[in-house]
Amino acid sequence: MSKTSKAFDFAGRSGIYDGVITGTGLFGSLVSKIVWGMDQKKDLEYQSMATKSIPIDMDGRLLEVPVGTGVLTMPLYKCMKNACITCLDYSKEMMAHAESRAVRMGIKNIGFVRGDVAALPFSDDSFDVVLSMNGLHVFPDKNAAFSELFRVLKPGGLFCGCTYIMGESKKTDWFINKFYVTGGYFNPPFDTRESLRSRLNKMYSSVNVETLLSEACFSCIK
Ligand SMILES: C[S@@+](CC[C@H](N)C(=O)[O-])C[C@H]1O[C@@H](n2cnc3c(N)ncnc32)[C@H](O)[C@@H]1O
Repeated sequence: MSKTSKAFDFAGRSGIYDGVITGTGLFGSLVSKIVWGMDQKKDLEYQSMATKSIPIDMDGRLLEVPVGTGVLTMPLYKCMKNACITCLDYSKEMMAHAESRAVRMGIKNIGFVRGDVAALPFSDDSFDVVLSMNGLHVFPDKNAAFSELFRVLKPGGLFCGCTYIMGESKKTDWFINKFYVTGGYFNPPFDTRESLRSRLNKMYSSVNVETLLSEACFSCIK
């Protein structure tokens, strides 16, 4: 855990994160292209696949874990006026960006909690939607993460998001192991498309998994 939290504290402090995750700027677009084989259009495509099942006019409770800097989700939350939104992340540095972004964008129906996905500080069945973007390949204890995200979701609730999957591109897998794992950003073992589908099918009553290169986007009903 400490290697991962140090890595993201550094990413939060240095300000490089947003460009890398959105595939923008010189460095971000090079990383996107070289590591993931994506251009900005594909980046936007997988991000919208990950959130498209969330009703924009929902009026229940939504939990996002991990929120990171909020660069991908604050524009969505800006439009979700009726939802009660809770964001959680382990890194104070990353989440500080999300909090100030929410303030800058005038998003009022939102709260931030520092915590560990493996021990979520929420009661069972408390959220209508649980969103997890680019986190499941990062969390060191994946079984605990999947199980906690399931526990806090209401029966009939929606679990959606996206994660890196191995086995789709040899080049991407090589970069992930060589740099992202060594740097503490990603933590193996990683799911493949089939192991992710099978894991979700064992937990949820309805499961949809779509892939775009090495990103899997999922949408499941508890
Ligand atoms: C790749 S970022 C994804 C952030 C955001 N969802 C996005 O797509 O931009 C991974 C995030 O997971 C957070 N994280 C790592 N381990 C965690 C844990 N055990 N519990 C909660 N958050 C964690 C990191 O601090 C980091 O902000």
